[in-house]
Amino acid sequence: MSQDTSYQLQGTSYSIMSNIIIIGTQWGDEGKGKIVDYFAKQANAVVRFHGGNNAGHTLIVDGEKFVFHLIPSGILHEQCQCILGNGLVIDPEVLFEELTNLEKRGYKIQPDRFKISDRAHVILPFHKNLDAWREEDSTGTKIGTTKRGIGPCYEDKAARRGIRFGELMYLDQLKPHLEQIVGYYNQTVCPRYNKPTYDVEQIYNKLAELSKIYTPFIDNTIVAINKFIKNDDKILFEGAQGTHLDIDHGTYPFVTSSNTASGSVCTGAGLGPTNINQVLGICKAYTTRVGEGPFPTELFDDVGTYLQDKGKEFGATTGRRRRCGYLDLLLLKHSVMVNGVTGLILTKFDVLSGLAKLKVATHYQYKNEKLDYFPAHDHILKECEPVYQEMQGWDEEISHCRNLNDLPKACHDYIKFIEDYLEVPVALVSVGPGRHENITVKDVWE
Ligand code: GDP
Ligand code: IMO
Ligand code: MG
Repeated sequence: MSQDTSYQLQGTSYSIMSNIIIIGTQWGDEGKGKIVDYFAKQANAVVRFHGGNNAGHTLIVDGEKFVFHLIPSGILHEQCQCILGNGLVIDPEVLFEELTNLEKRGYKIQPDRFKISDRAHVILPFHKNLDAWREEDSTGTKIGTTKRGIGPCYEDKAARRGIRFGELMYLDQLKPHLEQIVGYYNQTVCPRYNKPTYDVEQIYNKLAELSKIYTPFIDNTIVAINKFIKNDDKILFEGAQGTHLDIDHGTYPFVTSSNTASGSVCTGAGLGPTNINQVLGICKAYTTRVGEGPFPTELFDDVGTYLQDKGKEFGATTGRRRRCGYLDLLLLKHSVMVNGVTGLILTKFDVLSGLAKLKVATHYQYKNEKLDYFPAHDHILKECEPVYQEMQGWDEEISHCRNLNDLPKACHDYIKFIEDYLEVPVALVSVGPGRHENITVKDVWE
């Protein structure tokens, strides 16, 4: 560690840059997985801290595609430890499938390199079913969830009846706890949806089988993470979803059921805010959203179709077509505030090539008011008309560019406009899905 990147406090030296949060600034799918994988080459650990397999993080490495739903995106780097923190909700069957698939592709994941928090919550069959039943229920609000059981599992956590991953190590205690929660579903949920009840024995047997596999991986990850911090190791905290899907800061109720913003690293991984050094906001060069909910800059014209097709905008988890629209700076301004973003990473910049004119929303017109903040309520957002700044597009393909100087002038203008509006510098521009299709503006580890 060089002198100018460290300071001394009570005889201990801390690196200034070594703990970085990677966060989505829009509605998810900004390209977080690709960026985490790219930075993980130099990292000691990658930690997921919230959400579950509603996430789908895509990596393209030497032309090979990997999609991770639970396993952190640093897993392909041998030196990198991967951790699923206490804030997650984990479907043990999905995780097993993911580990098995990786093994088939030549990556056998051993417990010395992959840990699961004993405090993370377990997604069980009734969580997934309830998620789906609600989506199909015409009397409720359709959220367009991934139907992976995320919401119901977090609900049980908050209701203090959830099952935690560490319980898989104590089967004699798991059984009565499982009886309790299955009893709750059988008595209150199944009759409400007119569905058959659950068999405790069947669920227990499956968990008992899985417990043999998971026991060596289950750990007190809070201790492990804080050891990395003490050792001045480089840690990447890998966000899932996006800020506007955050249960507090997002477009409620069309959100996920966890806090996705950077602050949740502390609760979801078990460390203090004083240990965070940087927050990198990942931002697509335009905007997309999967599922229901307001989207002021959404496009229903040829430009929208162009972005969808050129950007291959299909969900990595559910395969649903992503809604597309112009870049929304009001949306991003909100994200910069709630996350404390210190640097921006612009992704999918190459997708904009070929559009003669570009637009970015700088304000919303709401009735007679010109808003310069992102409103909280769905009924207001529905009536907001974006106020656009029109900008020059560019024709040239830019995927081959590896240096800012290689980019056409219109790209520079677009980047500069974003930086000036948000008052945050851009650290990297991604110009293709491949691991190395990047323009580095600033080395984030230095
Ligand atoms: P995440 O959930 O934030 O990790 O993002 P996803 O993996 O769900 O979606 C991002 C998609 O865009 C994936 O298919 C990536 O391979 C792709 N991608 C990431 N960065 C770029 C980029 O700069 N250009 C292009 N064309 N594709 C990208
Ligand atoms: P990554 O990590 C995009 C969306 C769903 C739905 C809402 C609630 O790949 O960026 P949930 O199943 O979480 O209860 O669904 O949140 N959603 C995502 N959209 N990317 C994601 O993850 C998402 N995870 C959840 O589409 O609108
Ligand atoms: Mg995704």
